[in-house]
Amino acid sequence: MKNIAVLVSGGGTNLQALIDAQNSGIIKNGKITSVISSKEDAYALERAKQNNISTRVIPRKNYNSVSEYTRAVTNALIEEKAELVVYAGFMTILDEQIVKAFPNKMMNVHPSLIPSFCGKGYYGLHVHEEVLKKGVKLTGATIHFVTEECDGGPIILQKAVEVRNDDTPETLQRRVMEEAEWVILPKAVSLFCENRIEVKNNKAYVK
Ligand code: GAR
Repeated sequence: MKNIAVLVSGGGTNLQALIDAQNSGIIKNGKITSVISSKEDAYALERAKQNNISTRVIPRKNYNSVSEYTRAVTNALIEEKAELVVYAGFMTILDEQIVKAFPNKMMNVHPSLIPSFCGKGYYGLHVHEEVLKKGVKLTGATIHFVTEECDGGPIILQKAVEVRNDDTPETLQRRVMEEAEWVILPKAVSLFCENRIEVKNNKAYVK
């Protein structure tokens, strides 16, 4: 059983999808053992507590630099004996220290089809606002390994979602979550825990 640590900052619907997947046996060979939040009032913390998962809050505002903050989060993950780290709506930038400590052992859920609508400034609702501004007809979600390049790590799974003429950023965000994020994140986590993801030349392959 691999220890899974989940990093959160907000509502935690992706964390909930992981908890539900764990309860229904979709996640094989892994267990969520720790939830770490960058915000004290993240609802994700309630979801963890309701499911008896241990929680820690490491508030970003208590640290002066990205480097000090990254060290605190990295140390916490080492103490928790994390073997997989999932960024599930974690809205805080971390530096290369954590990538060196957990190489190809951290995955992120991003609410678009990378390499579109990703990188610095593309997070949460902003992503869907930009998708609607551009008028693309397909968007979706991506699960990728975390590397030093923002949203640039090896892509594990992607799922497309249709954009509708009458979508608002909110309706689109909800549909991308329901149809894509909550489906492919548990799947990618299980694949990792079953040792079925291989990384070669900065590309991920599911075996
Ligand atoms: C999700 O849509 C996730 O893909 C996105 O934030 C939301 C968090 O929701 N993440 C990013 O934009 C990261 N760049 P949640 O807290 O309900 O899971």
